Amino acid sequence: MVARDILQQQLPHTLVETNYEDQGELYRGKVRDNYIKEETITMVTTDRISAFDRVLGTVPFKGQALVEMADWWFGETADIVANHVLRRPHPNVWTVRRCDPIQVEMVVRGYLTGITPTSIWTAYEKGDRNFCGNELPDGMRKHEKLPEPIITPSTKAAQGDHDESVAPEELFRRGAVDPGLYQELAKISMKLYRRGVKRAAEHGMIFVDTKYEFGISSGKIMLMDEVNTPDSSRYWMADDYEKRFEKGEEPRKFDKEYVRTWLAEQGFRGKGKPPVLTDDLRVEAAARYIEDLHWRGDAAGIGTGRRRNLPSSQPVYLVLDDSYLKQTFPVASLPQNFDQIVCLP
Ligand SMILES: Nc1ncnc2c1ncn2[C@@H]1O[C@H](COP(=O)(O)OP(=O)(O)OP(=O)(O)O)[C@@H](O)[C@H]1O
Ligand SMILES: [Mg+2]
Repeated sequence: MVARDILQQQLPHTLVETNYEDQGELYRGKVRDNYIKEETITMVTTDRISAFDRVLGTVPFKGQALVEMADWWFGETADIVANHVLRRPHPNVWTVRRCDPIQVEMVVRGYLTGITPTSIWTAYEKGDRNFCGNELPDGMRKHEKLPEPIITPSTKAAQGDHDESVAPEELFRRGAVDPGLYQELAKISMKLYRRGVKRAAEHGMIFVDTKYEFGISSGKIMLMDEVNTPDSSRYWMADDYEKRFEKGEEPRKFDKEYVRTWLAEQGFRGKGKPPVLTDDLRVEAAARYIEDLHWRGDAAGIGTGRRRNLPSSQPVYLVLDDSYLKQTFPVASLPQNFDQIVCLP
């Protein structure tokens, strides 16, 4: 288990944002600070957490845990599709190939779940039996496994807007993607999802659903952004899923849904002022992100020393102190030190 006192100690030192002036044009996404250059992007994955399309605060070590997991999955899926990662100069930072983003988010779902307005359960509960072109049987319950995994694409909303789940025909009508390319992306997305299901199952997890983003670089389809992370996916514990489902209980969640559920309990579902995340919640969320990381760690041979950044005796939370950052950045592509990082008070 993750030592909670370490997470607690890290609360005032989370990576909130960066402000480099000489690294390219800054595009600040909800989670990543992207420094855009001609051919590449330097992506700093911060500790920010977003839910319902709003940034809510930070979770200790989340940025590093995410990059670590995505890196592992990029490697695991490289035989299915090329990806944008070129280098990883620091635990929180990638240098990626700049792609021409395809304006669709490829969402793959294996279960009837979710609490955001765009989620399949929200629609099903309201009586919809066709979700983004997929027919759904009557009589299903929340968190039930779908007969087959399905693809439910959504639009890539402009900054600040919410994504919208739509049928592929609607995407074609809007000119977001053409049918031929969409078919190709659908095939790749399904392969990526099935690989995720298999690998997760080997480690006692259910890979519930996920979202993929693709771009084009030199005429080739590239998987970009992140892949199969707990920010872009849902993961549940497999061992007690059935028992809990039968009893109508929530599955044990190892993803952002844990935070979403907490927010919903406070009455926040994306509208109005979000509640301030409590320290207890931030620590608990950190613990889950890190626990979730561990099985990729095992699978990646961290214990055998093959991975540079996460030796087994020095888990993710030890490498993010100030001296590590100062020491690492000068030799990487971000020459400035980390004095500019804004920490939460
Ligand atoms: N290789 C790439 N080339 C171009 N754009 C990319 C690449 N990889 C990721 N992106 C884009 O960079 C941004 C990453 O930042 P982040 O993930 O924080 O954004 P987000 O909060 O998901 O989305 P938004 O842009 O709506 O804030 C996303 O808009 C993503 O689509
Ligand atoms: Mg993103």
